[in-house]
Amino acid sequence: MLILGIDTSCDDTSASVVGKGKEILSNIVSTQEGIHKKYGGIVPELASRRHIEMIWPVVSEALLEAQITLADLSAIAVCHGPGLIGSLLVGCSFAKAVSYADRIPLVAVNHLEGHIFSCFLESHVDEEYPLISQGPPEFPFLSLIVSGGHTSLYHVCGFGNYKELGRTRDDAAGEAFDKVSKLLGLGYPGGPVIESLAQHGDPEAVEFPRAYLPDSLDFSFSGLKTAVANYLRNDDRGERGGLSDICAGFQKAVADVLVRKTEWAVRKERVKRVVLAGGVASNGALRDRFLSLAGEGKLEAWIPPRSLCTDNAAMIASAGYQHFQAGKTVGMDLNPEAYLPL
Ligand code: KG4
Ligand code: ZN
Repeated sequence: MLILGIDTSCDDTSASVVGKGKEILSNIVSTQEGIHKKYGGIVPELASRRHIEMIWPVVSEALLEAQITLADLSAIAVCHGPGLIGSLLVGCSFAKAVSYADRIPLVAVNHLEGHIFSCFLESHVDEEYPLISQGPPEFPFLSLIVSGGHTSLYHVCGFGNYKELGRTRDDAAGEAFDKVSKLLGLGYPGGPVIESLAQHGDPEAVEFPRAYLPDSLDFSFSGLKTAVANYLRNDDRGERGGLSDICAGFQKAVADVLVRKTEWAVRKERVKRVVLAGGVASNGALRDRFLSLAGEGKLEAWIPPRSLCTDNAAMIASAGYQHFQAGKTVGMDLNPEAYLPL
C-alpha cells in the first residue's frame, strides 16, 4: 500500500511516497531557508507563494524517485494544520485537486500527529546518532515534540488516542533557538547555527535560568530568551561569555528543562518508552542527553534520524497510513486550520 504524503505547513515544501506506513521510497524536501534568512524569520506571504511554485515539481520528483505514477497510490495524505494558513492552503488545495481528478482517496493529517509517527518509519541507521531502539515503539509511549511552533509532551495510547501532559506556556523550544539566534545576529533558523557554535563553547561559562515550573509538565522558554537579551546588554561580561559560550549555555538550559520534564513524565505516567520528535530533536546535545538516559536505563528512547525530525512529508504519509487503515478518509470540503488541536 503506497501513500503520497504532502506537507506545506510552514516553510518547507515536502512530498514523500511511503509503503505500508513505514518504507520510505522517496522523501523530497524543498527548503525556503534562503528566502527567509534575510528577514530573520518566516514571511508567511513569501512562504505560500514559494509553495505554489514548488508543490508540483516536488511531488513529481517524489513520484519519480519512488518509480511510481499517481495510479499506483492507495491514498494521498495531506497535512491540514496546525501551521501557516496560506502555506497549508497550497498543500490542501493541491491534494484535493489530485484526489478529485485521479479518484485517489484523501486523508487529512495533523502535523503533530505526523511528528509522533515519524518513529514508525524505517530508516537506515543514522551514522552519527544510531537509533537506540529499532522498529516502531509499542503503545503506550510518551512523545516529546519539540519544534519551532510546538513544545508538548503527549501520552500516546494508540492511533488517535493522545493525551496532552504538558505544553509550552509561551515560546516553543525551537522558537527560543530562533529568537536567541536573532539576538546574537546569527540569522534564521537558529537551531543549527547555535548548535554548531555551542560545540566550541563551555556550557558552564554562562549560567542561564531554567523554568522548571514545579508540579507541572508545562514548559516556558521566554524567560530564558529574555535572560540572554539581558546578558547581552550587560557590558562587564569579562573574558568569559563569548559567542560560543553563550550558545553552549543557552543550549544546555533548554536541554536541561526538556530532559528533566521528560523524566518527570516517565515517572508520573509509568511509561518508559519515549519518542523524541520535531526539529529541535535533531540537536546533537539533546539527542546525547536522551541516549545517556537510555544508557542509564531510565527510559527507552526512539530518536529518528535528523532528516525525519525536521519537517518532512514521510511522517505525514506514515500517520496517513494509520488514518487510511482506520477508514478515516476526507472529502472535498477539507479545509486547513492554522490552529488545530491534536
Ligand atoms: O519541526 P520543524 O522542522 O518545524 C516545525 O514544525 O516548527 O522545527 C523547526 C525548528 C526551528 O525552530 C529550528 O531552529 C529548530 O527546529 N531546529 C533546531 C535544530 N535544527 C532545527 N534546534 C536546535 N538544534 C538543531 N540542530
Ligand atoms: Zn514540524
